[in-house]
Amino acid sequence: MMLEENANKLVSPGRGILAADESTGTMSSRLQGVGVDPSGEARRSYRANLFATPGCEAAVSGVILYDETIRQMMDDGTAVPDYLMAQGILPGIKVDTGAYPLANHDGEKITEGLDGLRTRCMEYFNLGARFAKWRAVITIADGTPSKACISANAHALARYSAICQEQGLVPIIEPEVLMEGDHDAARCYSVTAEILTATFAACEDQGVHIPGALLKPNMIIAGNDCAEQISREEVARLTLKCLSENVPQNLPGIVFLSGGQSDEDATAHLNLMNTMDENPSWQLSYSYGRALQAAALQSWASGTPEDSQNAFSHRAKMNSLARSGDWDDTLED
Ligand code: 13P
Repeated sequence: MMLEENANKLVSPGRGILAADESTGTMSSRLQGVGVDPSGEARRSYRANLFATPGCEAAVSGVILYDETIRQMMDDGTAVPDYLMAQGILPGIKVDTGAYPLANHDGEKITEGLDGLRTRCMEYFNLGARFAKWRAVITIADGTPSKACISANAHALARYSAICQEQGLVPIIEPEVLMEGDHDAARCYSVTAEILTATFAACEDQGVHIPGALLKPNMIIAGNDCAEQISREEVARLTLKCLSENVPQNLPGIVFLSGGQSDEDATAHLNLMNTMDENPSWQLSYSYGRALQAAALQSWASGTPEDSQNAFSHRAKMNSLARSGDWDDTLED
């Protein structure tokens, strides 16, 4: 079955996903953040250079694109999805339309984009996409997340997944518990467990075929403003425990988000999980945005296009090694 085959390809050994699906607003502010004037051409040329990094297909199984980028061209005029496919990299597409305030629930969000999703999926499939992403945002604060936020987002993730699968796209199910806040790791654990349980229950209700889907979760980490941070080993151990307790065994793979972790922490955590993993039923991989692109973006602004490719190549290689537990920090020098 094509969905299972593509899901397995995305988590094949030594490879992972590059999340390059920042919305136009987010990508523009990232470019501005390093002093580059944002425009459609600025976003295109930065990303085309990243995708053209020599040899990156060894560490990159798929790239998540944004609506603007899936319609853009490489420097030589090849359509971006056609170029990626020719390198053996599956093109993917962000299909949600963003996270908006959840009515009657201050500070909480619901991800929108179900209206017209079937038609958009058909178009994206025809443009070359073979997988999709939908990101739900869960905020931890006093009294949140609410039951309403958990159930509404779980329901939307499941509806999205069913529609994608119907249209031949592997859904990446992303319920992101944010790192912002002063909560401790135990709180992150219980909220992550709650959203994962609700999401997979909703997926069952909607008939989602789990062997043809991937999960993109946060790791179990204390909030940015929490005084009690835990060690890398504890992050890895608690993350594996939470996933083992709340994720179906027949899911082919888990592709973590980086969520604002430092580049090296994101690599080290994945590496540790792949050394500790006592539950080989899923592949443990990456779908990093910032942790794969931060150095490349900085070099794009301050160096040559080749410097940017070298920075990306290095990070991709480090994460590729983390897939088999073969990374260590001496390789970072
Ligand atoms: P980060 O790795 O920067 O969190 O981005 C991954 C992503 O795609 C968020 O939706």
